Amino acid sequence: MNQVVKVSDKTFELFISESEILMEVNSLAKSLSEHYANKELVFVALLNGSFMFASDLMKQMTIPVEISFVKVSSYSGELSSSGEVSTLIGLSNDLSGKEVLIIEDIVDTGLTIDKVLPQLQKSNPSSIAVCTLLFKPDAFKGKEKPAYVGFAIPNEFVVGYGLDYNELGRNLPAIYQLKS
Ligand code: XMP
Ligand code: MG
Repeated sequence: MNQVVKVSDKTFELFISESEILMEVNSLAKSLSEHYANKELVFVALLNGSFMFASDLMKQMTIPVEISFVKVSSYSGELSSSGEVSTLIGLSNDLSGKEVLIIEDIVDTGLTIDKVLPQLQKSNPSSIAVCTLLFKPDAFKGKEKPAYVGFAIPNEFVVGYGLDYNELGRNLPAIYQLKS
């Protein structure tokens, strides 16, 4: 595995190896399979970043689980006080009475999750929680802390394993940190 990679115009160094990631994903799937046993579980994975994590996590689940990939779209609107209205695109599964687990690649400030939660609550699930591969506790200022975290990391920019810099680097099988 490369120790250093160039993505677009920046240099990144290896931070979490592919095998460390897969071991952690395995352990998350084990906890989730125990916690949600005998429940109707739906993964709601946020695109684009979470596609690789969602796929690997899904493969290790040992209980029945549905999945829906959604995109958060923000646009300026006159209806909201913040001037920004966000909608969820692509949600097709019926969530009512089910246990929803939001799958994120990274929770940074937590603002994305704060936008997504009220949208999902409209569908009357019986519970909603967040599972994120990466969490930046020092940057977090959201309302809802993720219930399941793969790795808590410092407040530095990372790419790989679905995460991008200028839309590139998502294909890297490991996670790399911006070289200072
Ligand atoms: P918030 O701040 O809303 O962040 O919790 C959510 C989204 O911001 C992107 N993000 C990153 N993407 N490296 C990335 O490639 C990072 O270090 C990083 N931090 C935040 C990401 O799309 C995430 O879903
Ligand atoms: Mg993302």
